[in-house]
Amino acid sequence: MIPVWAQLAYLLCAVGFILALKGLSGPRTARTGNLVGAASAVVACALPFLYLDDMDNVVLILAAIAIGTVGGVYGARTVQMTQMPQMVALFNGVGGGAAALVALLELDEIMPFAGSVNWFVLVATAFTIVVGAVSFAGSVVTFAKLQELMTSRPVVFPGLPIVFGAVAIASVVLSVLLVQGPAMWIGIVLGLLGLAFGLLLVLPVGGADVPIVISLLNAFTGLTVAAGGYVLENTVLLVAGTLVGASGTFLTLLMASAMGRSVANILFGALKGGSTLGAGEASDRPVRSAGPEDAAIMLAYADRVIIVPGYGLAVAQAQHALRELVDLLVERGAEVDYAIHPVAGRMPGHMNVLLAEAQVPYEQLQEMDEINGDFKDADVVLVVGANDVVNPAAKTTPGAPIYGMPILNADEARQIIFMKRSMRPGFAGIENELLFDEKTSLLFGDAKDTMGKLLSAVKAL
Ligand code: TAP
Repeated sequence: MIPVWAQLAYLLCAVGFILALKGLSGPRTARTGNLVGAASAVVACALPFLYLDDMDNVVLILAAIAIGTVGGVYGARTVQMTQMPQMVALFNGVGGGAAALVALLELDEIMPFAGSVNWFVLVATAFTIVVGAVSFAGSVVTFAKLQELMTSRPVVFPGLPIVFGAVAIASVVLSVLLVQGPAMWIGIVLGLLGLAFGLLLVLPVGGADVPIVISLLNAFTGLTVAAGGYVLENTVLLVAGTLVGASGTFLTLLMASAMGRSVANILFGALKGGSTLGAGEASDRPVRSAGPEDAAIMLAYADRVIIVPGYGLAVAQAQHALRELVDLLVERGAEVDYAIHPVAGRMPGHMNVLLAEAQVPYEQLQEMDEINGDFKDADVVLVVGANDVVNPAAKTTPGAPIYGMPILNADEARQIIFMKRSMRPGFAGIENELLFDEKTSLLFGDAKDTMGKLLSAVKAL
């Protein structure tokens, strides 16, 4: 029995999780939100030590907490910002795996009282084992894809839909058997089926869609933890899991709609035989290239400039130099804004985080819908390490992997300067017609390097 004071403390932790989510919804409050969430999680984990007086395996529990803490702190401190999605996948996967293992242990406890256990507890146990295992295996594959430990292209084999269907049906049948008569062997087989299901679900997903699947698996883990909370009669797990499940579902839907795709298409597109990525080859068609001095003249005498940041800005870590350039242009009297595409970079909010790190004022960050009407009045658009988010193929080429994705209307500006290293395409692996537009000048080189030269050239004018 949990004492009343501990239940009240759990309630406060649940409120803390809700406040954390609220804080995370805006760049100004995100840091505080994160701290509130982390503090609530620490308190929730510490509480059982204070009221349970017959706790088994305390040493093992403390050792596991110590290992998790060291791994988590080390990982979070050393991860590159561009590797954040893999990191989220890994954390999420271990969460799902842990929930599945806890449910298996709980099954062991429940079995002697099988006759008197509420059937819904058994349903929740089966659900936690299967979906937790799906989350674990799926997250490991997404990690391997993003970390380039395996191909990021869809992996399919003949008969995949049949195997997929068979695993799904077997999971349902065994779950029903588990509810009718709980047995450890059923739990273990369900766990193995969950692992297979996770692999089969994620292997056919192509590179650009992987982060959406991470978010979906995150939602799965949340639901697993919520079901685990029900089995363990732990309200804070139930609340936290439901919050993760709901926010993960929203994020999945928002990301899918920002990329102009449906979640079903992302998950099952490759099962039907379609690839989600282009060929990824560099074009050798002629383009107009410019030097930093030419670009400096275009920028220095422009009244209205829009910056389009993308993944390459993060790779090059050119955000500080870019902010200096923008400050200089503003000092010279230009009106300058950053146009933020919802899926620029490799994770939700990637550009906001990157530019906030360089102390770019929030007022200069404009969401796609706010700024898309301004491009036609822009003298110059400076595209820094972005590609797919300005690729007109999204509007003009049915069948292109990004077809239907809303894009930034950079093509409407009077002049476009592209900063990139080569003619290689972006994430979606397809050619960008805007690179060949007569209004476009290409400023080749690593963005940080070139930005430094551009800055010096503008200063010299
Ligand atoms: P991309 O289309 O991937 O283009 C990035 C460009 O940066 C490339 O063309 C690359 O060209 C250039 N680049 C790379 N390193 C550079 C460096 N050091 N200096 C200068 N340029 C460099 O990026 P985007 O426009 O930001 O679009 C994002 C893409 O990722 C979309 O397709 C989106 O769907 C996908 N995606 C987004 C997310 C989220 S949630 N944000 C998650 C997964 C996938 P070079 O190689 O020629 O330099």
